[in-house]
Amino acid sequence: MNKKGFIFDLDGVIVDTAKYHFLAWRNLANSIGIDFTHEQNEQLKGVSRIKSLEKILAWGNKTILDTEFQQLMHDKNEDYLQYINKMDASEILPDVSRVLDFLIEGNQAIALGSASKNARPILEKVDLLSKFEEIVDGNDVTKAKPDPEVFLIGAKLLNINPEDCIVFEDSVAGIEAANVANMISIGIGSKNVLGHANHVFKDFTEISNEFLQSLIDK
Ligand code: BG6
Ligand code: MG
Repeated sequence: MNKKGFIFDLDGVIVDTAKYHFLAWRNLANSIGIDFTHEQNEQLKGVSRIKSLEKILAWGNKTILDTEFQQLMHDKNEDYLQYINKMDASEILPDVSRVLDFLIEGNQAIALGSASKNARPILEKVDLLSKFEEIVDGNDVTKAKPDPEVFLIGAKLLNINPEDCIVFEDSVAGIEAANVANMISIGIGSKNVLGHANHVFKDFTEISNEFLQSLIDK
């Protein structure tokens, strides 16, 4: 029997929290006189909270004291949590549940590999926590994507070799992390942005059970 490790990013893959991160970061940036575009926001996807704020400050040519930095991260998260607290299972992206159930029925190993420190509460909110054998999130890593640490820890916990793991990711940094980890990278989003992935699909509705089976059989 073939057993592969399937590692899912959370934000922008399982649920569309990317839009909430964007809103919360832009609110915060605007409050300190910085603005940024949707194109720049692509660079924040998959990136840790600390790295995101560093990038935003760099775009605005701003340097601040560490105490203010900590306060801004806290404020952004408080704002973000207001969106998260309203979430329920209706926010699971199309066909994510079908893909998870297909893999579970096929006895595949499934983990979450997210940069977010809010990953567990979000999975609980949308009632998907029980689908994951292992969860690696922003509380477990020391190096943020594009470093492969999050996915390598996931593979280790699943007890599957990195070459036998498949990563679903919506961010440039996450695809890079999966590629460096020697895993099969599957981009969820646009080919223009995620061209460096092994495969790219607009969303999970384009990922057939036959395609999943071909990954398992490889
Ligand atoms: C990633 C998001 O999943 O998590 C990033 O794509 C976010 O946008 C990062 O900055 C950290 O999330 P959190 O919830 O810990 O602030
Ligand atoms: Mg993501």
